[in-house]
Amino acid sequence: MWPLRLLTALLLLAAVGTRAEDHPKAVVTLDPEWDRVLRDDKVTLKCQGSHTEDGPTQWWHKEHLLPSQAPSYSIESAKVNDSGEYSCQSPGTQRSDPVRLQVHAVWLLLQARHWVVQVGDSIRLRCHTWKNFPIYKVQYFQDGVGKQYTYQYSDFYIEKATAAHNGSYFCRGLIDNRRNESSEAVYVTVQGLRPLTSVPAPFGRLVTISLAVGLLFVLDTGLYFSVWKDLQSLLKKREEGGHMK
Ligand SMILES: *[C@@H]1O[C@H](CO)[C@@H](O)[C@H](O)[C@H]1NC(C)=O
Ligand SMILES: *[C@@H]1O[C@H](CO)[C@@H](O)[C@H](O)[C@H]1NC(C)=O
Ligand SMILES: *[C@@H]1O[C@H](CO)[C@@H](O)[C@H](O)[C@H]1NC(C)=O
Repeated sequence: MWPLRLLTALLLLAAVGTRAEDHPKAVVTLDPEWDRVLRDDKVTLKCQGSHTEDGPTQWWHKEHLLPSQAPSYSIESAKVNDSGEYSCQSPGTQRSDPVRLQVHAVWLLLQARHWVVQVGDSIRLRCHTWKNFPIYKVQYFQDGVGKQYTYQYSDFYIEKATAAHNGSYFCRGLIDNRRNESSEAVYVTVQGLRPLTSVPAPFGRLVTISLAVGLLFVLDTGLYFSVWKDLQSLLKKREEGGHMK
């Protein structure tokens, strides 16, 4: 009977995998999505979690609980001291991982959706001006080398990143067609290989179940042969007994 018990144990083990998903982690998203912004920009942080339960959302900034209990937290006009890590927790979720916001008090700022990309992903860099002042003669640099120049403002777009795009970027231009300003340089990291992700949960369970079934088969086959052997020796004994009569 023990193979059956083993199977049950393995099936239970496979089912345990679903438990952790009962309380998903909340996720903080930024709208607009830039994690580096300028002073006086508007930023809304949204707490995405369970949609099945109502109740207050908790917000933390640098580990201090904020008074807001709404599912989104708006910063109408960002200040440098709004920088730092934000996290949230909505009803029925675990507290989110922190999201870091940087508020800079400068004229020009390089922005991107992601600072770490995989080979083949696209990269879009934005040269953002304070209070969205118009900017002309816009240049983007990689590792100090000019990569793009436009008279009218334009983003810098790379359709498919390669290892050669890994580097430090900044932008420069004439704000209001007068003021020659450069942004701080920021690293864009292009990762060569997609990291090996762990086996997705449903597949993992399938593997466990398959293993259990396989094990049961092996054990059953063993059982079959041992029963067959017992039967053979029993028959042999009977035969011998018959002869002895
Ligand atoms: C952040 O700085 C602003 C002025 O820039 C000030 O009015 C505000 O009280 C500061 N907030 C905190 C939490 O220090
Ligand atoms: C990419 O650049 C980072 C620094 O931004 C550097 O540490 C890393 O070694 C570079 N990777 C490759 C593959 O060139
Ligand atoms: C801005 O200043 C740099 C030197 O700091 C110069 O090389 C560049 O040509 C200037 N840009 C414009 C558009 O005048």
